[in-house]
This record gives sequence, structure tokens and C-alpha cells, in this order.
Amino acid sequence: MIFPDAMLGMLGGGQLGRMFTLAAHSMGYRVAVLDPDRLSPAGAIADVHLRAAYQDRDALQQLADSCVAVTTEFENVPADSLRWLAAHCTVRPTGDSVAVAQDRIREKRFLTQNGFDVVPYTVIERIEDSHNVEPALLPGILKRARFGYDGKGQARVSTPDEVRSAFMALGSEACVLEKRVALTCEVSVIAARGADGATKSFPVSENQHRRGILDVSIVPARVSQALAEHAARCAQAVAVKLGYCGVLAVEFFVTTDGALLVNEIAPRPHNSGHYTIDACATSQFEQQVRTLCGLPLGDTRLLSPVVMVNLLGDVWQRGHPAWDAVFSCPEAKLHLYGKHEARTGRKMGHYTVLGVDADDALAKAVAVRAKLCPDFDLRAA
Ligand SMILES: Nc1ncnc2c1ncn2[C@@H]1O[C@H](COP(=O)(O)OP(=O)(O)O)[C@@H](O)[C@H]1O
Ligand SMILES: [Mg+2]
Repeated sequence: MIFPDAMLGMLGGGQLGRMFTLAAHSMGYRVAVLDPDRLSPAGAIADVHLRAAYQDRDALQQLADSCVAVTTEFENVPADSLRWLAAHCTVRPTGDSVAVAQDRIREKRFLTQNGFDVVPYTVIERIEDSHNVEPALLPGILKRARFGYDGKGQARVSTPDEVRSAFMALGSEACVLEKRVALTCEVSVIAARGADGATKSFPVSENQHRRGILDVSIVPARVSQALAEHAARCAQAVAVKLGYCGVLAVEFFVTTDGALLVNEIAPRPHNSGHYTIDACATSQFEQQVRTLCGLPLGDTRLLSPVVMVNLLGDVWQRGHPAWDAVFSCPEAKLHLYGKHEARTGRKMGHYTVLGVDADDALAKAVAVRAKLCPDFDLRAA
């Protein structure tokens, strides 16, 4: 086990790295962040901020020399950087498991080969592949295999011609075409697998998206206990089948015909798990520190029903938001990520609201939003 005050390394300096750093600091660890951005949210509070590219050998060497163990918060971190670091220090998760989650084609193959249910899909690697698309896959969503997030790198398509033009518009790079399925809701599970092979998961979160970006997470998810247990088992099984060590998130679709399909895997803590900071015995970030340091997994029990609401740059449209809207609700907790520029769609922070049950927390969270963003457009969902 790695004990405080060891130096832990983090590849990526976004909000996930920042919340990891906060958790690590409160446990007595030090953190070195590698991120090229001078203004990175995690770099701003880390003990060391190495400002360099993720492939920079000198920076990786410095990280290896100063850290006992290194992890990542950034899905698109070059897997080879993790593999290189692994020759010098403990690296969790491995470059190989991150590589599976980075690429939708590898991810889908991993999932289907291991018996997990996914949406009907096909791989479109070259323009000719669009000619033979099975009609049953349309209308569908064409998704670039790599570097997509928050709905970016995706196009809705209804005809083979649209598949063809969308493929070119997405840069003629490898894609998956998924059938567009009718959803009752979306849920996710944050799971963790420790160095000893033990697995645990946090309570299932029900996630609502707007414009392809997570908007609200509701916990416990308003689904049957059987479905929640199935999702938890699936997420932990994904971690086991991947030979994973660390925290991972599994996003699911709940279809109108009652099926639970794995949408995608994130090899790191996840936006839909931010509620754990205020509402669970252990947060997903403390769990990440624990897995990285080879400590036993922390208790994932939910202490209170909770709703998390994302704060995108849009909320700053008219200058600084009226934060008293959040602070005047005693059950609300504000988390801002220290980002300097509030761009449309950029995740700037979130707030969570505790309640006696999920519906109560949701009602309070919606009331806070109504005060915070009076012209919030519900139709834009
Ligand atoms: N096959 C699908 N059928 C129906 N809705 C989908 C499908 N794929 C994606 N979506 C919707 O788009 C959102 C973003 O897609 P996702 O594959 O999770 O990409 P990202 O990497 O941007 O999160 C999903 O959370 C869901 O709301
Ligand atoms: Mg997603």
C-alpha cells in the first residue's frame, strides 16, 4: 500500500483531476499533474504542475521520478504514455484497458465478446461500408470511433446517403453506426476494482442529457431494483473482464422494451458520479486514490438521495451568476472548477442537492435552477 504523503501522478488537469487532487490532499497525499494547459483546473491546486504534452518524454520521466503511482483523468491520454510510465512506477489503470475505452470499435468488440448487451451497430471504416448498411440500423447515429465526447463527433443519419455524407463530414475516419433506440431513461454506474481484485459500485444514477451533454443526475435512479442490480453487476463485470484496476464508469441505455444496454465505458471517474462527493460515504475520487494506492475500497453506500445539476458556461451568459440562488438552499452544495473562460457548453461546475427522496431532491434542484437561470430554456432538451 502507498501511504501519505507519497506523491501521486495525474495525467490530465481538468475538473476530474482537480477533484482527485482535492480528495488526495484531504487524505494527506501530494499530487503532480501533467497537463499542457497553463490554466488547468487541477494544475492550479496540485503540488506540482508539469506543463507539457502527454507524450513529452522529459515530462513523463519527471513524473516517473517524482511519483510512486500514476493515474489518469483524461480518456484520450495516449495509451503509450501509460505503458511507458508502467516500466518506471505503478500505473493504474493500464494503458491497455484505457485503449479499449478510447476507441468505440474496440469497446464494442470487447463488450460483445464478453456477453454484454449493446445497441445494434456496425463498423464504418471506409466510405464503401456505407453502401451496405443494413436498413434495420436506420435511423441511426454515426459516431467517430475516437475523440468524441459530450455528443461531439456524432451525426444523426436516416438514409445510406446520409451515412455517406456524415462519414465524410466527420473526417472520413473510422466510425460506428448505431441504431437509434427508443429510451425510457439512461443510467450509469461508477464501479471500482481494487489492486486486490475486489469490486464495488456506487448506487445507480439516472442521467438526463441536453444537447448531448449530461445535464442532471438523479440518485437513486428511478428504476426497478432488479434493473439497478443488473446494472451494478454489469459494471463490476466490465471491470473484471477488463482486468481493470481503478475507477470506471459504465453508461447504459434503458430501452422502452425494458432492455439494459451498455452504451460506453469511461476509464476514470465520471460526471454522473460527482454526486458521491456530497452523498456517499466515499467519493468516486477518494475511491480513485484508494485504488491507485492499493488501499482497500471504501464504503460506497448512499447517505442521502441526491440530484446533481451541471453548470455549463451558458450560465455565465449575462455575467457572474447569482450564486445566492444556490447558497440560499441549505441542502445544496456548489462546486466550481476554477475555469477562467465560460464558453457555451463548457463544464464550469455543478451543484448537488440532497433530499428526503429522489423526487424531493429533484424538485429542490429545479427550484435552484429556476432562480439561478431564469431564462433557462426547457425546450432545448
Ligand atoms: N444509439 C443511440 N440511441 C439513442 N440515443 C443515443 C444513442 N447513442 C447516443 N445517444 C444519446 O446521445 C448521448 C451521447 O452519446 P454517447 O455515445 O454517450 O457519446 P458521448 O461520448 O458524447 O457521451 C447519449 O447519452 C444518448 O442520450
Ligand atoms: Mg456518453
